[in-house]
Amino acid sequence: MKSIMNRSAGKESRRDFLRTTGAIAGSLSVAQTAPAARAAKAGAVRVKERLALYGGPKTVTHPQTDTHRWPLYGEEEEKAVAELLRRPNYKPNDILEEEWKAKFTVPFARAYCNGTSALMTIFFSLSEDLPRGSEILVPSYTAWATVAPMWLFGLVPVFVDVNPRTINFDLDDAKRRLTRNTKALIPVHWFGLPCDMDQICDWANEKGLIVVEDACHAHGASLKGKFMGNWGRMAAFSFQTTKTLPAIEGGMGNYQNREDFERATAFSDYAKPISLPADSAYRKYQGSGFGPKLRMHPVSAVLARCQLRKLDAIGAVLAKNVKRLNDRILQLPGLYAQPCRPDAKRVYYADNMLLLDEKEAGMSREMCVKALQAEGVKVSAFNYTLQHKLALYTESRWHHKITIPELPGSEQVMRSTIAQPLITTDQPELVDQYAAAFEKVWAHRTELGKA
Ligand SMILES: Cc1ncc(COP(=O)(O)O)c(C=O)c1O
Repeated sequence: MKSIMNRSAGKESRRDFLRTTGAIAGSLSVAQTAPAARAAKAGAVRVKERLALYGGPKTVTHPQTDTHRWPLYGEEEEKAVAELLRRPNYKPNDILEEEWKAKFTVPFARAYCNGTSALMTIFFSLSEDLPRGSEILVPSYTAWATVAPMWLFGLVPVFVDVNPRTINFDLDDAKRRLTRNTKALIPVHWFGLPCDMDQICDWANEKGLIVVEDACHAHGASLKGKFMGNWGRMAAFSFQTTKTLPAIEGGMGNYQNREDFERATAFSDYAKPISLPADSAYRKYQGSGFGPKLRMHPVSAVLARCQLRKLDAIGAVLAKNVKRLNDRILQLPGLYAQPCRPDAKRVYYADNMLLLDEKEAGMSREMCVKALQAEGVKVSAFNYTLQHKLALYTESRWHHKITIPELPGSEQVMRSTIAQPLITTDQPELVDQYAAAFEKVWAHRTELGKA
């Protein structure tokens, strides 16, 4: 396997890797803390034991019944839903929008039935700025929803690589793919790690490109103190069950200007234009909208309101668990996490995304995952569908001509990612056992490398 550290340049050391990505000063500091060092010492006895894969004792003995429970709903959510059932109404949608705007200091926001709908409204809002055939720079390493709705509006995705370290939008690759028809770009903050929006927006401004954010994984993340979802002209969030702010199904659109918001409103709900100011050019579409009906279900709105109140507290537990684990396991050769810039605050969505450099680790991802699973660690080799390989883009009947690109960074991420589902409650003993299991597997990596 090509080393994830050696994509284009010569061999980089682990230290170079960390320096170039800013991780030393970031939340994933490699400086071993005193408790981590003590725990590592305690685990030193265990690492010598036979691997559980080959009949040795399992490292993780702590019960894992409730470890990855998600969403974290409780009495508050039950009460709020029951209240709505007693008096069904749509008011929770309006209240949620107001609370969202206040929390994230966004001028205009609209609640939708999911993140896909939020993205559709964005493409509609842009439909008079972006003539059919306009090209949009977008990662292929993303969910269908970032890209697929473009075809409804005659927009052409130009697939951009991701950086194999951050798994985020590769600006240098985007620059190479710029043409006369490029009109916009959509970075995706992958698994809650902010893209370099300062650099991306500077370049987009210089080239006159519209920036839209897919912030479906990034509720509450920020860069330079500015929330993700406020860097682009518009942004989409998902509240689907697995997301950082789960409402079973749901989404939110952020709009920095009134015109985009009013267009999105008229597009998404035939009954909402009447709520726009008297001088709005979109009020007259009351009664018809533009076809779709995409408003949020009020049950989702009440769930989202409860979860919004707890977003920071729950996020802090997720981050604490990841930090406690990663502070130890990122010392192991060939194991990396998405590096977070010191001026960014990332959030965590679903998994602690780890990257394995097989060459440096001296074992394959397959054997590493098998050995960790046998020790009782919940991990999997993570494979994501690259959008550009799907029929919607490879068949010419659905789209203006799409160029099917070489995306080595995305392919590299596909080969190297190990996903460790987030531990969602405060369980330091379990986290320490996970760390000890990684250390044990690494202590046997020569043996695993030969398997
Ligand atoms: C990056 C990204 N964008 C958009 C979406 C679509 O959101 P939803 O499932 O709420 O429609 C998802 C959902 O998984 C996603 O991961």
